[in-house]
Amino acid sequence: MKSLTEKFKSEAIREIPASGLSGSVSWQSPSNIALVKYWGKREIQLPMNPSVSLTLQEAHTTTKTAFSISKIRREPVLDYRFEGEPNNAFQARILKYLNSIEEFMPFLRNIELVIESSNSFPHSSGIASSASAFSALALCLADMENKLRGTESYGSEFFNKASFLARLGSGSAARSVYPGAVLWGETDALADSSDEVATGLYDSMDEVFKSFRNVILIVDPRKKTVSSSAGHDLMNANPFAEQRFDQARRHTREIIHILKSGDLHAFSELVEYEALCLHAMMLSSRPGYFLFAPQTLSVLNRIRSFRSETGIPVAFTLDAGANVHFLFPDENQDEVFHFIDTSLKEFCADGKYLSDRVGRGPQKL
Ligand code: PMV
Repeated sequence: MKSLTEKFKSEAIREIPASGLSGSVSWQSPSNIALVKYWGKREIQLPMNPSVSLTLQEAHTTTKTAFSISKIRREPVLDYRFEGEPNNAFQARILKYLNSIEEFMPFLRNIELVIESSNSFPHSSGIASSASAFSALALCLADMENKLRGTESYGSEFFNKASFLARLGSGSAARSVYPGAVLWGETDALADSSDEVATGLYDSMDEVFKSFRNVILIVDPRKKTVSSSAGHDLMNANPFAEQRFDQARRHTREIIHILKSGDLHAFSELVEYEALCLHAMMLSSRPGYFLFAPQTLSVLNRIRSFRSETGIPVAFTLDAGANVHFLFPDENQDEVFHFIDTSLKEFCADGKYLSDRVGRGPQKL
């Protein structure tokens, strides 16, 4: 069977209208939090194991673009602004990205592009913005392609292409183009799953998870000391890598089942174990490193005590960083927010946390 990479290459539009094309497209796209983690990759952002995430609602990137496509072929001309200001580091990363996806979108060699991007979450919150940023940008690019094709179609083909393009910017961004629970990577638990794109699982989620809450406890707002890409690379020589990839394949099958069944006890057991296994991979890399802080461990202990004392099915998970994602059912929000304010806030930098929930996916503006 033809890979999506080949399909998108062969279907790429190569004809530019004689009079050119200009316009603007804007998308808002959310961040996501992985339940089963992607950690380790091969080639261009292909995962070593499948992962499953929950798309968030409040933490998102808004990307507004104005484009002009002409017959002149050259490098993409980009004017990029982040929160109203030029940003050289982001500008360089996006130019590199645009050049890297040119074989799927040849019109990027004919484009003048102005991008205005902003995040709903504070700059120094330690929240990785690459998932929301690259998914918002990929949706804009797929939309420009729609315009070149003269269609206004936002069906499954559109989101499939956007997920593919988002993945090439940042792996976890592939999952942000869909609402609710999202799978990225091939698994025998789901026919048509693919390493090249994500697949939405929203329709098969139990209702309890569709309204799940996620509070991000900002334990340390600083930029992490080891980037995700360095972390993925260190997996190449990790002595436990193969066992980890097999384990994540099993966990993917389990979480898909749990998300369908609504089993909250199984959910917290598996999701917390996954978070700890992700950090175990960091500890056992060479050189070994850790991204959690002393306060992270205090928060995790308190969350576990709260669960065993109250019976409320809360769960924690961690990203590649010190902040804690605190997951719980919507119906328990009163007790849980009281617990956060009285027992967890003291471990957060300036008492800061962000309240979020499982989201409805990206929005065209
Ligand atoms: O998409 P990246 O390269 O930033 O990697 C994300 C890695 C984790 O956030 C730790 C796990 C995940 O699946 O999102």
